[in-house]
Amino acid sequence: MDAEALRASWSSVLAHGDEVPLFFYSHLALSRPDIRELFPVVMAGQRDKFVVALGRIVSSADRTDELVPYLQRLGATHVQFGTTSEHYAPVGQSLIATLAYFLGELWTNELAQQWQAAYELVASVMQDAAAEVEQISGELPTAEESSSARSEQS
Ligand code: HEM
Repeated sequence: MDAEALRASWSSVLAHGDEVPLFFYSHLALSRPDIRELFPVVMAGQRDKFVVALGRIVSSADRTDELVPYLQRLGATHVQFGTTSEHYAPVGQSLIATLAYFLGELWTNELAQQWQAAYELVASVMQDAAAEVEQISGELPTAEESSSARSEQS
């Protein structure tokens, strides 16, 4: 992975400020309104969070010891937001469309491949962490089961 190419292109994109998350979420709303619905109606805070998170990911792309635990936490948190593994590909497509739009002629096939590979890696670490959380919560007794177990004991 060419971390430097990712960083340089991301900083060119960021020069467009708030237009970037606005484009990204509008693209997602048009392509997958069902996913857009998972996000709050007022997006200002979330727009910042997504951009900040991507910046952090891109800036530590070559420091996997820092990046992997961060992505695992992020993936696990996303279970609470209703994110499923099926959502990652459409979100990735909106991200790629956003990068292509703002980078214009700087968006080469090679850069596209770099971003695609980076996103797939990020998504797979997040998805694995989410699957673990889902498995653990599936194994835990429900509130009903644990209360009936308690009454059996007494
Ligand atoms: C590269 C992949 C992604 C990154 C870097 C990312 C980043 C973030 C961050 C940093 C937050 C805020 C977390 C917090 O407040 O604790 C967040 C929230 C959220 N994300 Fe993601 N996310 C990604 C993928 C996805 C996908 C695939 C979905 C699909 C549904 C999604 C849906 C959400 C939702 C619904 C929230 C909560 C919004 C809210 O209620 O404020 N994210 N994301």
